[in-house]
Formats: sequence, C-alpha cells, structure tokens
Amino acid sequence: MNDLCDISLSRRSLLIAGALSATATTVPLTADAQPTPAPAPAPPSTAKFTFQVNGKPHTLEVDTRTTLLDALREHLHLNGTKKGCDHGQCGACTVLVNGRRINSCLSLAVMHEGDKITTIEGLGTPEQLHPMQAAFIKHDGYQCGYCTPGQICSAVAVLDEIKQGIPSHVSADLNAKPLLNAAEMRERMSGNICRCGAYSNIIDAMTEVAGRV
Ligand code: FES
Ligand code: FES
Repeated sequence: MNDLCDISLSRRSLLIAGALSATATTVPLTADAQPTPAPAPAPPSTAKFTFQVNGKPHTLEVDTRTTLLDALREHLHLNGTKKGCDHGQCGACTVLVNGRRINSCLSLAVMHEGDKITTIEGLGTPEQLHPMQAAFIKHDGYQCGYCTPGQICSAVAVLDEIKQGIPSHVSADLNAKPLLNAAEMRERMSGNICRCGAYSNIIDAMTEVAGRV
C-alpha cells in the first residue's frame, strides 16, 4: 500500500512539475529578459588587384570570393569564357594563365595579381584567327559551340605542353619527349567535355595545327 502511495505521489509530482515548466515556457518575457539580438553579419571582404587580360592591364576591386571566371565575365564582360558546371568538371571555363591552362571557375580572382591571362577573345580576332580557331572551323570541331572557347584554349595549351616535353598518363616513357599523336591529345583534352560529341573533329583540328608546330 505504501509503495502504491509512493508511486502515485511521485507521478503527481512529475505531472505538476511538467505543468509548471510548460507554463513557464508560455509566460512572455519581460522587457528586461529579451534575448540579445544576433550581431549583424560582417560586410563581405573585398580586395584590389591588378592583372593583365589579353594584353591589357586591369585593376579590379572584388569580393575575395569572386572566381577568376566571374571576374572575367561579370566585371570585364569577356563572355567568351563559358560557365558550364562551375565545379571544375567540364572545362568550359578554361583560360590560359601565364601560358598554362586552368579551370577559371576553380581559381579566386584575387590570386592573380600580376598574372597574364589569355581568354578566347585574346587568342585571335575575327579578321585574324588563331590557327587553332581556323582549324576548328575547317574541321567542324563544334556544334552548339558552348564548350568551344574552353576547348580551343585547352588545345593551344596542350600542343605547347607536348612541345615542352611534359608527359601525360598515356606517355609510355616519362623521360622521352611525348609523341604528338591522337592518344596523347585525347588524354590531355579529357578535362574538356563536349556534350555535342565533336571529339573526333577536335582531334582532327589539333592534328592539323600540330603539323605546323
Ligand atoms: Fe569550370 Fe566547368 S565551368 S570546369
Ligand atoms: Fe556543343 Fe561542345 S559543341 S558542347
């Protein structure tokens, strides 16, 4: 009997305590007890830098999170360089930095102080095409053209890499000069995706230009 009383008492105490805590949560806070407002978010941090794009000096002040791709497209209005995935997976944003190709969507603009950037607009002009641009046209190295600026920038850099003797994953002998063949070119162009599937024509265009290197 005593045990039963104890159990019922403790259940009653529990219910009372629960009711009190529920009431406490619904009691409005007095002016003194208002929570401290969250601090205002800090303004974005910006930085100024100077670089050369297609032979011309530019000074930009941008949010430090701005990618090189967005700096080129949104700030300098060089829209030839395309944004495909924005994640380093398609190669549409390929540009040359001091002669080497990079995915501009994966690089922060402010890291390029003093760099020399070449975009598709800087390779050739409509009146005087770069040999790679002319070869892409001759060999139908594109269909919709969205990947093409990145493909052409990459193709120019690939021939230069082979010329410099830089090996790739398919180079049989890492110490020998890489062969200037389709397998080498395909491997080196594998980071540039073409949804239209113009791959074989792109290799034909590169092969023609390579013959002139
Ligand atoms: Fe840069 Fe796709 S947009 S790799
Ligand atoms: Fe259309 Fe390459 S030409 S994606």
